[in-house]
Amino acid sequence: MASPRVMFVNHTSAIAGAELVLLDVVRAWRGATAFLFEDGPLEGAMRGKGLDIVKSRFGGGLAVVKRDASLWRAAPLAGRLAGVTLEIAGAARRHDVIYANSQKAFVLAALAHAVARRPLVWHLHDIIDGSHFGAGQRRLQVALANRFAARVIVPSEAAATAFVSAGGRDGLVEVVPNGVDIVRDPRSRDDLRRDLGLPAGRLVGVFSRLAPWKGQHVVIEALRALPDTRLLIVGDALFGEQAYAATLRRQVETLGLADRVLFLGHRPDVPLLMQAVDAMVHPSVSPEPFGRTLVEAMLSRVPVIATEAGAAPDILDHGGAGTLVPPADAMALAAALARVLDTPGVPADQIDRAEARARRRYGVAAMQDAVAAVIARVAGDHPAAGARA
Ligand code: UDP
Ligand code: GLC
Repeated sequence: MASPRVMFVNHTSAIAGAELVLLDVVRAWRGATAFLFEDGPLEGAMRGKGLDIVKSRFGGGLAVVKRDASLWRAAPLAGRLAGVTLEIAGAARRHDVIYANSQKAFVLAALAHAVARRPLVWHLHDIIDGSHFGAGQRRLQVALANRFAARVIVPSEAAATAFVSAGGRDGLVEVVPNGVDIVRDPRSRDDLRRDLGLPAGRLVGVFSRLAPWKGQHVVIEALRALPDTRLLIVGDALFGEQAYAATLRRQVETLGLADRVLFLGHRPDVPLLMQAVDAMVHPSVSPEPFGRTLVEAMLSRVPVIATEAGAAPDILDHGGAGTLVPPADAMALAAALARVLDTPGVPADQIDRAEARARRRYGVAAMQDAVAAVIARVAGDHPAAGARA
């Protein structure tokens, strides 16, 4: 069978982890279509990968419906949501498979499916549980998935378990670990510090968009117990969490840590910055669905300290490839950081294990092949999809 015509659908045009994964997936699908809800950097990035762009006329601003909000919050937007759904259905008729890469994209694509009847793959990058989603949204997502999804791809066993615990059908789920590629810089840590204008001495980093569940506030709190240590906070609020970003700055001022915390904002050179620090902290206070930055740190050969929830324990080989601490526990984090920073050389074999594990399990080519196999299977299972419009 000829390669199926795929339409990739994403609701946000900001580029966070799920979009970086999508950009790697579509490298294998030049000439496919990207249906985007809004203007933003993802459009140019997708075009750069050779995709044709279809832009919704009604999809801008739907981000106001927060994932933990009641579904009633979406009621005033009903007209626009219906508009996007019909646009997806119309564009879907020219394709064999619809591939929804975000939760909002999936919900509308599932509704469009009622009209367009094209097989629908949901790449679910989230943990469907009460810490991430409101009850109504959880029920809606799972009901639509069970009814309309041909396959649900998740990046980790943790995300699979959460989907099934929320009522999702086990047989729908396929775990495809994210692939992560980075190029390591040959410079030494000290040289990188100098070239990047970073301070000498003990330096730890957090590399993540700013959001309450990502837990940057816990690391700031932990810093109080770590004299002579500086903290880099890399990342920005991408999805409307500006109030949290302001809270973090206030927390730093209030605790008198302004000379020890550097806010770098969003950076395009995360792997380079990771190579420049003495330890990377992954402090999410809710379960992390995957956590690309964990793998980036493993490939950067920097010691990782992560909270024991979601996918992190599996990625870090239950402590064999990094240090695990309880979520939202600043004192436990400070103690773990002190151990790692005070005993240079001890994590050497851990770092070798981490790098080898990341290379073995999280390759981009393996992810692309696994996704392509799902798309091919789904297209083959739905012969109607082959009937070109
Ligand atoms: N990232 C980046 N610049 C920043 C902060 C993060 O390029 O300032 C990248 C980071 O390197 C990683 C991705 O954004 O590849 C975040 O993915 P992850 O899976 O860790 O978390 P998400 O934000 O998707 O929940
Ligand atoms: C989401 C998750 C993150 C995951 C990324 C790619 O943004 O929060 O954990 O790594 O998607 O799957």
